[in-house]
Order: sequence, then structure tokens, then C-alpha cells
Amino acid sequence: MTIRTVETTPYADQKPGTSGLRKRVTVYQQPNYVENYIQAIFDSLEGFEGQTLVIGGDGRYYNDVAIQTAIKIAAANGFGRVLVGQGGLLSTPAASHVIRHHGAFGGLVLSASHNPGGPDGDFGIKYNVSNGGPAPEKITDEVFERTKVITSYRIAEASDVDLSTLGTQSVGEMAVEVIDPVADYAELMETLFDFGAIRDLFASGFRMKFDALHAITGPYAKTILEGKLGAPAGTVVNGVPSPDFGGGHPDPNLVYCKDLYDELMAPDGLDFGAASDGDGDRNLIIGKGRFVTPSDSLALLAANAHLAPGYKAGIAGIARSMPTSAAADRVAQKLGVEMHETPTGWKFFGNLLDAGRVTICGEESAGTGSNHVREKDGLWAVLLWLNILAVRKQSVDEIVTEHWATYGRNYYTRHDYEEVDATVANQLMDDLRSKLPGLRGQSFDDLQIVYADDFAYADPVDGSVARKQGVRIGFEDGSRIVARLSGTGTVGATLRVYLERYEAVSGRHDLETQTALASLVQTAEVLTQIKQRTGRSEPSVIT
Ligand code: G6P
Ligand code: ZN
Repeated sequence: MTIRTVETTPYADQKPGTSGLRKRVTVYQQPNYVENYIQAIFDSLEGFEGQTLVIGGDGRYYNDVAIQTAIKIAAANGFGRVLVGQGGLLSTPAASHVIRHHGAFGGLVLSASHNPGGPDGDFGIKYNVSNGGPAPEKITDEVFERTKVITSYRIAEASDVDLSTLGTQSVGEMAVEVIDPVADYAELMETLFDFGAIRDLFASGFRMKFDALHAITGPYAKTILEGKLGAPAGTVVNGVPSPDFGGGHPDPNLVYCKDLYDELMAPDGLDFGAASDGDGDRNLIIGKGRFVTPSDSLALLAANAHLAPGYKAGIAGIARSMPTSAAADRVAQKLGVEMHETPTGWKFFGNLLDAGRVTICGEESAGTGSNHVREKDGLWAVLLWLNILAVRKQSVDEIVTEHWATYGRNYYTRHDYEEVDATVANQLMDDLRSKLPGLRGQSFDDLQIVYADDFAYADPVDGSVARKQGVRIGFEDGSRIVARLSGTGTVGATLRVYLERYEAVSGRHDLETQTALASLVQTAEVLTQIKQRTGRSEPSVIT
């Protein structure tokens, strides 16, 4: 094999965000942009000679091009074997499982998650380590430093690998195995859930729809739901992955899944609706007449996980990202298990999961998962819900309202201001931070502030500290306002304001969310002046 060393010049903007390097496709199409970044990743790692690297993506535009480049750079840098999903496909949770299951050194996950795809959409590259989870900040920081000074990359001169045929090929001395993207993952799901009980549920007439949004989960959901669990054909819709997600936005929220929502709210509608995002790690859960917020879903799944065979021994603990509502904390308290509050980003759960301190993790951003892999997992959440429904023989609505009657309800909403001028957004956050020391003890709407800080997280496993992870303002009744800048946007800055209010067991659980939180929203505006400073009259997205 001929290995070429190609001279290159650094790009200044290859700083990985919350979840890998996410940029417009047009940015990635610049000369050597992919090559520089992948070489910088390999330059930041040690000991991979002869080892296995997993590569796969969500099938979005540019996936095919970047994969061929990645394979050739891996060969030139000395990897012994690459496992790649057929067609270049692997959902993010499946990639995590394949890394773990096959003892790989790490993996490259090619995706921009729920961001739109196509030539004008987004693309992304994320490096995962041997536990199957996203690289910790120690590595991503090093990669960024490396991208700033890179002068050359190494690449094998070889023809493209045929990604359509299962089996082993080679690029020089490196073996390339094209694997079935679904098989290993489907097998894992069968070990966690009571497939027999779920099959009976479908056989009894239970009807659901799973919207794959033309993204990666189509093949997974078809194999598992329609194939193994006997859900009627047509249960999975938009099930063929397309490079531009059928022109849609592969974000499973109530805006992009409005049709599904409406179907579930119809009087004689389906029993259950679910969706997953571009790369298959997020989930949307809607029962007949009842949308389940991601924060509530985390609490509910944790409280009921023992009903599924994979978790029947109980859970070790729960972790949630800081802006996620505290609903899960009440479950942890009742179960007498550990509860951890981490910064936004799935990578912060890795150490806790590896150390066996938590079993279930979740985020307000529609991600839930467990120790079965080291990524959040959309289809896993759907299957756990189905397992719970099959065992409890109740509707989603009954289960949710019973939960609130037991634990109380955490009303919760997130207001996003997207594509805000980055200078304005940074200044706003700086000013808010500088106000924090004086806020404690002040009252708004008769509610006193009991703490106001910028969240810092000390990892209890490796002692590393992540600072400036978002402003938290807490009130005496347990209400919270959280403000932070998104780490996943690709244009300007996205400001997120998270609002939460706790209503006790004896309180009212049937208020409309925005109404229940209206006065907190006002207080947030007084404290942050977002509307005034950005000139926006409304958030761009409310979840
Ligand atoms: C990705 C990450 C999540 C994170 C979410 C929102 O999906 O995997 O861990 O919660 O983005 O992040 P952001 O920084 O945009 O709020
Ligand atoms: Zn995703």
C-alpha cells in the first residue's frame, strides 16, 4: 500500500462542540477539511496500531464521501481493522454498541444529529472512545489544539471500499469489514426487554406509529418493531434513510412531528406514537392524549425500569443534565439510589456509567439511555416504554398521572432564541454572570432566590472539573431558571432558557404548562433581558 503524506494548512474553526464537530456541509467540503480533522483526532490518540476502528453515520449528505476518506486515513495511520456499517450506516447508539461488543479502540460517528441534511444542511464528525461513548473533553481539547497546528495528514492511495456488500475487503494491510448495521443492536435489545410481552401487546390490538423521519432508525425500527415484535406493517413510517431526510428536519419534537401529535390527540387515535432523530439517539414519546416531556420520561422510565428483564435487579442510580427538570431526583430519592447532576452533553455520563454508579441517564433535549451503551438511545426508550405498557396494562396517560400523584409534578419548559448575534449573546451571559453574587436573597413575585451560580461539575470518578456550564437561579419553592448558550448550533448563538416549577403531590397537576410557568417566564426576562437585548419578541422554539 502506498501511503501519501499530504501537506496541509490548519483551519481555525475545528473546535468540537457539545457533540463533535458540527458544521455546514459547505464548510466540510473545503479542501482537506475532513482530512485535517480526522488526522488531528488520530494525532491526539495513542496505542491504536493494529486495533479496530468503527465507522458509520446517519446516511446524511456527505456521509459517503467522508467515510471513504476516513477509511483511507485510518489505514495510513496504522489501524488494523475497520468495521463499517453496510451503506455507511450506523445509528449513534448502534455505533456505541458495536465499539463495545467488538472491543474496538474507538469509532468515528458521522452525523449532525437532528440538524437538517442535504447539500445546504449540516454534517458532523464525532470521535467515540473504547467504552463506546463520546470522547471526554481531555481528548476533544487536544484535538482542537492539534487542528490549529496541523501541517500534514497521511492517507492510503487505494480505491474506494464497496460499502454495499457485506464481508471483508482490504485497504493495504488494513481489513475493512462491512457489517449489518442492525443485527448486533437488535440482539442487544432482545436481552434487555420482554419481547414476548410486547408481542402480546401488539397481538391484543395495541396500535402505534414510529416516525423515523427519513433518517437512520428506519431499518432498526422495521426489523425490531415490525419484524421481531409483530407490529403491523406500516407501523414504521418514513423508514428509508435519505441523504436530505426527505427534505425534512429530523428533530423529533412537537414542531416537526406535529402530524404525529395530532394523530395521538384525536379521540379515536393510536395508543402510542414515537419518533427518533437523524442519528437515532433522541426520542419523542406521545401516548393517546398525552405528550410526555423528556424530563418526565426520564423519571418515569427510571421509576418503572425494573419491569423490564434487563433492569429487574433495580437501578444503581440516575443521572441527568443540569437543565433537565428535577422530576428524576424524586424517583432516585424514593428508590434510595444515587442521583447526579451533570453538564449538558452525553459525554459527562460516561464515567458514572463505567463506574456502575448510575444505570439510567437522561436530558431535557430528548435523550434517554442506560448502561447498555454509552450514548443516548431513541429506540431503546421506545422499547422500554412498550415493555412498561405491556406489563402495567395501562395507558401512557394513566401511568403519567399516577406518577404525578405519587411524586408531584415538575412543570417544565425550554425557550430557545436561535441564531442570535454571538456577540450579543455572549455579552448577555457575561452580564448575567456578573449579577449572580448579588441575587441571593432577592425576591421576585414574592419568591426568594436561594441560590444563583454558574454551574461547575466535579466528576466524582476522575476528579476533572467542568466550569461555566450554565447559570442556575433557584427559588425557595424549588422553582429554577437556567440560562446557557447551546453548544450544538452552527449559525450565530442559540440562547436557551429553561424554566421549572414544582407542584407537590397535593397540588394541581392539570395546568397548561406555559400558564403554570408564566410568572417565572416574566422573572427570567427581568433577570436576563433577552427580549430587550436581542430584539426578539418571542422565543424561536418552545419545547
Ligand atoms: C446533543 C448532545 C446532548 C445535548 C444536546 C443539546 O444532542 O448529545 O447531550 O443535550 O445536544 O445540547 P445544546 O448544547 O445544544 O443545548
Ligand atoms: Zn442525535
